[in-house]
Amino acid sequence: MDLFKQKIEELRRKINEANYNYYILDNPTISDAEYDRLMRELQQLEESYPQYKTADSPTQRVGASQLTKFSTVTHRIPLLSLDNAMDEAEVLEFVSRVQKAPGKQLEFVAEPKIDGLAVELVYENGIFVSGSTRGDGITGEDITQNLKTIRSIPLQLRSNQHPIPSLLEVRGEVYMDRNDFERLNEQQLAEGKPAFANPRNSAAGSLRQLDSRITANRSLSIFCYAPGSCEGFSFKTHIEFLQTLPLWGFRINPLIKLCKTTDELIDYYRSIETKRDTISYDIDGVVFKVNSITQQEELGIKSRSPRWAIAGKFKAKQEITRILDIETSVGRTGAITPVAHLQPVRIGGVTVSNATLHNQDEIDRKDIRVGDWVVIQRAGDVIPQVVKVMTERRNGAEKPYRIPAECPVCRSHITRPEGEAKHRCQNMNCPAQIKGRIQHFVSKRALNIDGLGDRLIEQMVDSGLINSVADIYFLKKESLAALERMADKSAQNVINAIDASRETTLARFIYALGIRNVGEHMGKVLEREFKDLETLIAADYERLEAIEGIGPIVARAIRDFFDEENNLQTVNRLLEGGVGIAKSKTGIQDERFARKTFIFTGTLTKFTRDEAKEIVEKKGGKASSSVSNKTDYVVVGENAGSKAGKAKELGVKIISEEEFFEMVNNPFFNKQP
Ligand code: IVH
Repeated sequence: MDLFKQKIEELRRKINEANYNYYILDNPTISDAEYDRLMRELQQLEESYPQYKTADSPTQRVGASQLTKFSTVTHRIPLLSLDNAMDEAEVLEFVSRVQKAPGKQLEFVAEPKIDGLAVELVYENGIFVSGSTRGDGITGEDITQNLKTIRSIPLQLRSNQHPIPSLLEVRGEVYMDRNDFERLNEQQLAEGKPAFANPRNSAAGSLRQLDSRITANRSLSIFCYAPGSCEGFSFKTHIEFLQTLPLWGFRINPLIKLCKTTDELIDYYRSIETKRDTISYDIDGVVFKVNSITQQEELGIKSRSPRWAIAGKFKAKQEITRILDIETSVGRTGAITPVAHLQPVRIGGVTVSNATLHNQDEIDRKDIRVGDWVVIQRAGDVIPQVVKVMTERRNGAEKPYRIPAECPVCRSHITRPEGEAKHRCQNMNCPAQIKGRIQHFVSKRALNIDGLGDRLIEQMVDSGLINSVADIYFLKKESLAALERMADKSAQNVINAIDASRETTLARFIYALGIRNVGEHMGKVLEREFKDLETLIAADYERLEAIEGIGPIVARAIRDFFDEENNLQTVNRLLEGGVGIAKSKTGIQDERFARKTFIFTGTLTKFTRDEAKEIVEKKGGKASSSVSNKTDYVVVGENAGSKAGKAKELGVKIISEEEFFEMVNNPFFNKQP
């Protein structure tokens, strides 16, 4: 078995998957940076091990392998994105949100939202010096050479109608006309190359060519729509900026309109949507921007988008097709998702062959059956969905669907946890979950095995060295050292770290198991309550639910977990493997605090709330915020409110802050409450 070969195949799979999601499903799943990293790693491995090079490797795809060679540029001012309004009501909400501040009717610039790629063009003293992609908004790729091939981008600003600023950054959308896209695809197919899924992908593909002669042969265009950094030039309104752009030689969209009333805005939204299919390029909505720059500045920006602009999206595109089959897939957390396999159908220029059905409730609610004709919707970047079933097209052969009782990956029993819509595979060693489970198990706050990093875990699982968290405690130095890139000394270090982790606490152990909804805090609660593992495992649902701080959802999750035979075996093997759980120290704790619940109300003068809570927790108690019959003490500060009253009603002991202070500092005070 060769780990490098496996690694290469794994990378190819990931990259192909990413490409598929991006180009075909129009649904990117990883960042550009992550994609670049995978591609780089693959290229390096293929260079070092040319015996594993294949003609179908993603590195052999024209252009793609050269992506990494573009240099990175940091934008002087980040390129923001836009918040979305999904319908007219949301546009109106936006309008009233922004109107509120200045109190009078604002003017808005309305523009089509071009479905292309955002770029930034930089001009110094009127000369085009560089251009970049949007990237993550902060940094992008330098694509100057490619942008220079686009004829609608001026290489030199016109100066006869307007003065030239010393620095001008202009942002815009590069796109491909639908006609050009069709023509390009014909040509691609004629040359035996794959067709692009849609005009945006073909524009992206063309802009990302390292060889700019290829880009030059593609008909790309640009509409400019926003300023970046400007020096030696300012303007009072957005429309003034837009109107200046053509004077310098930039292209702006002919459908831009200044709207002075809300009615005009809504009319614009409607009329552009109606025109949508008659326009020669793809648009996916309209953009409304507050016209006045002063007002824009007053409204400001949120983390990634301005408060003064909104994208009014168009209704998603829908098509009709047939459900051929339904299958389940298991996610990394064990969540089971039913997926409909469709008769492939093109929606908005993309071929769709799968749709998510979310969960059993969704299937039942829509009464989705295998064989049904359905309306499928693909909206922007989201996974295609079933809008409704065309029951009128049923012939009686359609079959209702139930999520099976077995995990499609590990065949163990699946359950539907209390309060959750999704079914879940409960087996902590399910191959779909194992890597994530191990990562969690060894993490700092769990068993804290230093040196068992993600990469090593991946390597160990992929090579079959471990299939369960328990296997970690049976590892031999020799088998670790036999792994690729693992020196004798580092193998020993890992073994030492594993040894050091064997002594642990019940709280950490419980947390490490990764029981759903059982975090670090819950680990401590359970430790305090049960003191040893056997009692916890034996506790029934009622016993668990009776614990302060544990509700039905957590109680169910704990039961579900320990009811899974695989998990019990794993726990036993962990103990066999030498994991030692220290006896809980609760016994020697201050009985006045241990397992007692405190509520603080009113203003404290001697402690802050957090300090008081910390003291209680250190002493083995718990600080909570709402009074119930599980509360032991209510500590009242000044101006205490309704909680003291509620405590009285329930007969809970009420003490003053002074008394609490005494309790903390005097071990004999209030000894037997
Ligand atoms: S303005 C501060 N105007 O939409 C506002 N963006 O979802 C920044 N887009 O990244 C963008 N047409 O790629 C603006 N007329 C238009 C646009 C437009 C298309 C794109 C752009 C941006 C994305 C935000």
